[in-house]
Amino acid sequence: MNPALAIDPPRRLKEYAPSPLELLMAVRREGFLGWMTNTWRQQGDLFRLRMGKQSLVLVAHPDHVRDINVTRREKYDKGESYDTLRELLLGNGIVTAIGEDWRRQRRLMAPFFTPRGVEKFYPIFLSDTQQLIERWRSHHQGSGRPVEMLDEMMLVTASVILHSVFSTESSEAVLRIKDALETLLSRVSEMQNPVKIPLWVPTPGNLKFRQAQKLSTGYIRELIARRRALPTEQWPDDLLTKLMTTKDEETGTLMAEQLLVDNGFTMFAAGHETTARTLSFLWYALSQNPEVERRLHAELDSVLGDAPPTISDLKKLPYTLQVVKEVLRLYPAAPMYARDAVADDELDGVHIPAGTRMLIFSYGTHRHPEFWDEPERFDPDRWLPEREAARHAYAYHPFAIGPRICLGNNFSLLETHVMTAMLARRFKLRLKPGHVPRIDMSGTLGSRNGLPMLIEAR
Ligand code: HEM
Repeated sequence: MNPALAIDPPRRLKEYAPSPLELLMAVRREGFLGWMTNTWRQQGDLFRLRMGKQSLVLVAHPDHVRDINVTRREKYDKGESYDTLRELLLGNGIVTAIGEDWRRQRRLMAPFFTPRGVEKFYPIFLSDTQQLIERWRSHHQGSGRPVEMLDEMMLVTASVILHSVFSTESSEAVLRIKDALETLLSRVSEMQNPVKIPLWVPTPGNLKFRQAQKLSTGYIRELIARRRALPTEQWPDDLLTKLMTTKDEETGTLMAEQLLVDNGFTMFAAGHETTARTLSFLWYALSQNPEVERRLHAELDSVLGDAPPTISDLKKLPYTLQVVKEVLRLYPAAPMYARDAVADDELDGVHIPAGTRMLIFSYGTHRHPEFWDEPERFDPDRWLPEREAARHAYAYHPFAIGPRICLGNNFSLLETHVMTAMLARRFKLRLKPGHVPRIDMSGTLGSRNGLPMLIEAR
């Protein structure tokens, strides 16, 4: 054979298979996220991780992020990796659907979430943030008693999403649903464990899960029923009405009731928890980086008066947005997401057999030493336009990337930008003295021992 035509056969994936005891000890010592990060640092960008019967390929290099999500995306889909989420929580709603089912739902919802589309929600962002400011002023400011920052941010973002998607909100409902949602999410991440108790076993945890499921889907059903009870000309022009009234182009039928509930629940869950986590880490990061906080305050004080910011004011607050982007880099609320190889592939000359579970580790990409100087440093200047433009386009993917990028990314960025501006203009948040957060992930990123913070007036 002509040697010039010889093609190197694809290489086999390198493997790392810690023993169950080794794994247990390491996770106990370093936390799950710490262990995952250290393992990636030792093993490199593409390797197979075997844990008992489970096996997955950890992906962090921006080239591979691009290949899986964009250039070779027909070879990867949301397959088996999403079954638990599909079966227990989100059904066939937009986050978990695939193929034509997904495309149809995305087409339907996309117009609400374009950069122009989300401006419609701006008055909601303002009024919910204003309510929070008043509550903090009357209850917490200067009290010397710390509040749990994630709870505070969950309340405000839950209220925003209920207003925006369903044109409704009651603080009592927000509290009720928020607790149910936390139960559901933590149970689903437990269900991803190799050792799990099936849901039909009536353990206290399973009973609590069932109850939470009934409560939250019951609430969504109630919202749908309330809308149906109104004359149609009184239905608000919102996403729920759109989902309830749009007929399928091919079949001419309305969205099935179960899919409507699945999507209602999906939008509620996806639309507030991650934003709340981002905001709570933002306050934490500011409390630890006084120089960044000083520059943020200087920008806000020079641009904003006492009135709430208008959308055009936000353009004059670039440093505020840089802070938000840097929080999403260092503390991505969804530190990893999965794809399943549906066909054989090759990444960087390495064979990826069909059926492989790929875990795309954005937390690792965002700390990749080839693409970020001093990756652990909180430095919003990385987001100066010229520095951002010079960077690998796939070195940053807090919202995933490609056609399945987060539907709510524009919504969330606008919401976070304006809330940061309004709250940091009025308050300084301080971590409770002596508290050292244990940052880890359980589905999403959080602090195992919370983020208790003191609220002080500026
Ligand atoms: C900082 C806040 C947020 C972060 C970090 C975030 C992150 C993500 C990520 C990583 C994905 C991809 C998940 C996967 O592939 O498995 C995703 C998907 C999605 N997100 Fe977000 N998200 C945020 C806020 C929101 C908001 C506010 C909404 C709704 C208003 C939303 C709605 C969705 C939806 C519907 C999808 C599925 C999109 C599709 O598959 O077509 N997200 N998000």
